[in-house]
Amino acid sequence: MENILKIKDLTVTIGGKEVLSDVDLTLLPGKISAIVGESGSGKTMMSLAILDLLPDVAARISGEILFRGKNIFDMDNKEKQNMRGNSISMVFQEPFTALNPVMRVGEQITETIAAHKIISEEKIQGCLKGLLKMVKLSEDIASCYPHELSGGMRQRIMLAIALSCDPEILILDEPTTALDVSVQKEILDLVMGIQKERCFSILFITHDFSIVNMVADEVHVMKNGRVIEKGAKEIIFKSPENEYTRHLIDCIPKLGDERERLPESE
Ligand SMILES: Nc1ncnc2c1ncn2[C@@H]1O[C@H](COP(=O)(O)OP(=O)(O)OP(=O)(O)O)[C@@H](O)[C@H]1O
Ligand SMILES: [Mg+2]
Repeated sequence: MENILKIKDLTVTIGGKEVLSDVDLTLLPGKISAIVGESGSGKTMMSLAILDLLPDVAARISGEILFRGKNIFDMDNKEKQNMRGNSISMVFQEPFTALNPVMRVGEQITETIAAHKIISEEKIQGCLKGLLKMVKLSEDIASCYPHELSGGMRQRIMLAIALSCDPEILILDEPTTALDVSVQKEILDLVMGIQKERCFSILFITHDFSIVNMVADEVHVMKNGRVIEKGAKEIIFKSPENEYTRHLIDCIPKLGDERERLPESE
């Protein structure tokens, strides 16, 4: 299968320290690839690199990122903007800070729609309705401010904004980490439902192997800026080669595990 995104031999340093080392990653069309690793392993750096949004302090020492065969580091500004606006969307790690606290959430969605397409106000409102429906929020939510919404609802708004350009690749950086387990599950089901329907590719970043198990087709395990193991989810789960991967899998709470149950009341 032809890949949609390929990272080749990417090394990035900050102040002389390698935060990404010889990273290789392939994303296939219509598939969900998970990047899993502990805090500081370079997951966010990798996703920022894909959008060429690495912090100014970072230096790329080597490597290419090919989007549909074209190296993003060779793209001019217009091509890069086009890629960010129309092809690759990202939901950033902190959902609350990513929303403007003094702007109604509906306006934040329509603002993004208007930034990508020149269309009439009527069509923009139509798109807004469609997006709210897609993320399973009622239309009256549009007039709320972010602080009036629950964490799960805010994450649905972030998702609506990211989907507004009908992306080919959606990057989700720890999209459910700040949420309760039950809300987490709702958001994951929602994301997977939309992905199945619209068939885009997802790069799903998490530190949680139980989430990998729920969502991923392919898995990349990161540690200290390196991809230390990768492969199809079933194979990684069944026979992990790396000791660290095995450890992460062993940390998944097992269903029915006594320690996971709340004590029963007398
Ligand atoms: N702006 C920055 N300036 C200097 N170092 C940074 C900066 N951002 C990240 N780093 C360093 O780069 C490395 C990788 O960080 P990154 O944010 O990619 O980790 P992560 O895997 O996303 O972690 P988390 O799970 O906590 O989000 C870390 O060692 C971090 O300290
Ligand atoms: Mg991160």
